[in-house]
This record gives sequence, structure tokens and C-alpha cells, in this order.
Amino acid sequence: MRKTLFLVALSIPLLFACKDDKPIAEEEDKPIVEEKDKPIVEEKEKPIVEAAALAPFRTSSIDAFIQAGAAIPNDLIDLGRMLFYEQRLSKADDISCNTCHDLANLYGAENEDVSTGHNDQRGGRNAPTVYNAAMQFVQFWDGRAQDVEAQAVGPITNPIEMAMDDDAAVVEKLGNIPGYVTLFESVFSGDANPISMENIGKAIGAFERRLITPAPFHRFLAGDSKALTEDEQNGLKTFLDVGCASCHDGPGVGGIRYRKLGAKAPWPGLTDKGRGDVTGNTSDDYSFKVSSLLNVAQTAPYGHNGQRATLEEAVEQMAQYQLGKTLSAAETSSIVTFLNALTGEIPEDYIQAPTLP
Ligand code: HEC
Ligand code: HEC
Repeated sequence: MRKTLFLVALSIPLLFACKDDKPIAEEEDKPIVEEKDKPIVEEKEKPIVEAAALAPFRTSSIDAFIQAGAAIPNDLIDLGRMLFYEQRLSKADDISCNTCHDLANLYGAENEDVSTGHNDQRGGRNAPTVYNAAMQFVQFWDGRAQDVEAQAVGPITNPIEMAMDDDAAVVEKLGNIPGYVTLFESVFSGDANPISMENIGKAIGAFERRLITPAPFHRFLAGDSKALTEDEQNGLKTFLDVGCASCHDGPGVGGIRYRKLGAKAPWPGLTDKGRGDVTGNTSDDYSFKVSSLLNVAQTAPYGHNGQRATLEEAVEQMAQYQLGKTLSAAETSSIVTFLNALTGEIPEDYIQAPTLP
């Protein structure tokens, strides 16, 4: 009996000690009353833009381009990245692709009306962005290069761009940089002449094929109805209703066809014949590739000659000369709101300037 009492007495402080150590049941974290979301009266509101109206943008999907890019070998891409940033591909060692297509700061474009190349010479055209360029059916404003691989070798020997004397000079210059000799031999093993213009184009093109920037608009296209705000959806509706998508279609919202500038009313001051100078057919005069509008809000100024400073101006003129319509200020601003939803994210890691050999 005495023994039991003793044990009980002993256990009391122990129990208390025990209780002190234990955290007090944390009840204060629980919401006092869980307010259930008010049941929304199921009204089945009509969407601002009907799914069927999006058909023009579904000629292919941006995901297909992302997957194609992902399948390209990394060593080829890494070499292409180096060449994209390589100033020694220019005569005076001062200009790289990135000079006119600033990947990190200017959304792969430049902020001048026309480009300035070797010896500060100015060209006749605006530099488009290289982001998503690989998605287009042809390259350049006039489509004179079939794809990004074919395009990439052009600027290197263009006398007003990077101004290398000729292809042989480019191959010789890279061939004198031991690091490049090793890299080309490893990436193009089996080639009799690993360093060639063709392979330079292949590598740079490969790098560009992963410069794809999906935007909120693409999530909306894929079925996420919340990816665009109501204002953006209204802008998309205006864009469609006014007729912009009759030319600017496909997942790039452009970049899949040529059209004449001045389709409905003569475009003032047009001197560049665009496609006509490439084919020599007068029927192609003043025809240009319909621009992809991805990231367009970030790549002012606009048009092949960079003569339109603001997006509002570009949109108004497009409506006027390509569609014969005068937009109200509200319509213009609504379309611009939509165009902002075509801005994707810069792939910061992917575009890091590499250490050059
Ligand atoms: C001196 C500035 C300059 C340099 C350097 C330059 N570009 Fe360009 N780039 C332009 C201009 C201007 C155009 C448009 C020319 C045209 O359409 O006639 C263009 C067009 C392009 C296009 C076509 C995009 C489209 O939407 O059609 C791609 C891709 C491109 N450049 C990639 C490159 C690559 C790769 C390099 C490096 C090998 C490079 N550029 C070097 C100014 C430059
Ligand atoms: C009949 C075909 C056609 C229609 C319709 C059309 N566009 Fe265009 N758009 C083009 C062509 C072609 C270009 C290339 C312009 C150039 O070469 O200067 C272009 C270029 C643009 C550009 C400049 C892109 C850049 O990067 O410089 C914007 C912005 C644009 N269009 C928006 C619109 C909007 C908004 C509408 C509707 C109001 C519209 N377009 C209707 C054919 C069209």
C-alpha cells in the first residue's frame, strides 16, 4: 500500500513534466469556421471567344516546335550558342548575331529602325526577333532564306552586316582557333571538313530552334480559359472580328504566309519591293512575309523598315491599309492589350553568353 502511494506520488510530477514538454495542441492555426466557397450559380456564360473562332491559330502547335527543339543534340546546340555570340565571325571582331538580335535585353531584336553593321553602315531593314523565328515558314522579311540554318550563314559575309570577305575567310578564321577545331570535329565527327559554312549554319540554326517562347495566349489556345484576362480575351475577339487573323494566323500569329502591303489601300511611301526583288515577278512586288506577332509588344519599332514607332501606330496602319478599316481608339487599345498577351518569357539560363574557345 505504501509502495503504491509512493509510486503515485512520484508519477504526479512526472506527468506534469511530461505535459509541460508537449506542445499545446495547435488549435489556433485551424480556421475558425471554414467558409466554403459560395456556390456559383451555374450560368454557363458564353465565352468571349468561341473555341471554333480559334481555328486559324491551330494550323500547328507551339508544342510541336518545342518538342522538335528538345530532340536536337545538346552538343550541336552548345556550339551554335557560341557561334551566335561569336564576334570573331565579323571582319572587325566587333559584331555577333547577338549585336543585332539581343537575346537578353531586347527580346532577340534591336530597338533601332534599321540595323547598323560593319563600319557603322546602316542597312535598309529592321532586325526582326530571333525568338520563335524557327517557327516561321521562311526567314527574312522577303522570305529569301528557307529556314534558320540557311539564314544563319547570310549575315556573316554580308558586307554591311558582319562583312567577312567570303566563306573561305570564315572557315579559315575559325580553323585558326584550336578550341573550335576540336568542337567542330567532335560535333560533326565523320565530316571530311567539319568546319564549313553549312555546319556553322546547322549549329546556329539548332540553337535558334530552342528559342521558342510560349505565351499566355498559347495556354489559352490549349484550353486554359483563365490564361487570358477578360480584357485580353476581348482584345483577341477584336483582333479576330476586324480580320487580322486572315493574315496573322498559325501558332506564331503570323509567319506562315506572304501578303502584299497595301492590300486594301496603297501603303504610303513604300519603296522596298520585298518578295518581288527575290522572285523577279512583278506580281510579287510589295509582298512581304506576314510577321509573327509573338513578343511583338517588346520589339518596337515595327515594319520591314522600322518606320512605325509604336504598336498602336502599327496596328492602326495595318487596319487601314491591309483591311480598309479605321479603328476607334478603343479598338486599337483592345488589340494592343491582346498583343501583350503574346509576350513569352526569356529563357534566361538557355541564353547565357557562353565562354568562347
Ligand atoms: C548588323 C545587324 C545584324 C547582324 C549582325 C545579324 N542580323 Fe539577323 N537580321 C538583321 C536584319 C536587318 C534582318 C532582316 C533582314 C531582311 O529581312 O532582309 C535580320 C534577319 C534575321 C532573321 C530572320 C528572322 C525573321 O523573322 O525573318 C534571323 C533568324 C536572323 N536574322 C538571325 C541572325 C543570325 C543567326 C545572325 C548571326 C550569324 C544574325 N542574324 C546577324 C540584322 C542582323
Ligand atoms: C492582308 C494581310 C494582313 C492583315 C489583314 C493584317 N496584317 Fe499585319 N502584317 C502583314 C504584313 C505583310 C506585315 C509585314 C509588314 C512589313 O513588311 O512591313 C505585317 C506586320 C504587322 C505588324 C508589325 C510586326 C513587326 O514585328 O514589325 C503588326 C504589329 C501587325 N502586322 C499587326 C496587325 C494587326 C493588329 C492587324 C489587324 C488590325 C493586322 N496586322 C492585319 C499583313 C497583314
